[in-house]
Amino acid sequence: MEIKINKAKQEDLEEIYNIELQSFSTPYPYMLLRSLMILFGELFIVARDEENIAGYAIGAIRHRYMGHVISIAVKPEYRNRGIGKSLLRTLETYFRSMNALYSYLEVDTSNSIALNLYRKASYLVMGTHKDYYGKGKHAFVMIKNLHHNLDLE
Ligand SMILES: CC(C)(COP(=O)(O)OP(=O)(O)OC[C@H]1O[C@@H](n2cnc3c(N)ncnc32)[C@H](O)[C@@H]1OP(=O)(O)O)[C@@H](O)C(=O)NCCC(=O)NCCS
Repeated sequence: MEIKINKAKQEDLEEIYNIELQSFSTPYPYMLLRSLMILFGELFIVARDEENIAGYAIGAIRHRYMGHVISIAVKPEYRNRGIGKSLLRTLETYFRSMNALYSYLEVDTSNSIALNLYRKASYLVMGTHKDYYGKGKHAFVMIKNLHHNLDLE
């Protein structure tokens, strides 16, 4: 089935929250997702087919020139089909259109699948936040220059 990516709507929140619960050990609360949708508008995007929401991503512009990938998650049964990659690319396209020079994100140092996704999309580790996700759970900060397209594919 064809997957389309567009702006999330209020009525998508229930399904987005279910994906959040299936995807993270410390999921964002429903009300936080709702607030992010209000705050970040068109940078809160969903991938959907005719039946379901397959995944979502949230971005923000920081300090006028930095795109921040706040979260990406794909429903388990839709994983490994390129949807995570497409959500990331769509956010980067929005960041560029908003004059951002860089895109950056935090990722759990033990999340090898997400690390693969970001490395393949040309993100480089530029530092580590110790205990970012709780004691002993560190995050890499990864960054990409949005105007040097070095994607590995
Ligand atoms: C990380 C996540 C968003 C990837 O979504 P996805 O739609 O399955 O990813 P894609 O199919 O677009 O794959 C993109 C790349 O990710 C990597 N990847 C995806 N699944 C993988 C797996 N099972 N093992 C290793 N690498 C994998 C690969 O590098 C892949 O590129 P390739 O297919 O060209 O090899 C998804 O696994 C997810 O929702 N995980 C739980 C939430 C999470 O960890 N989010 C990231 C927070 S920072």
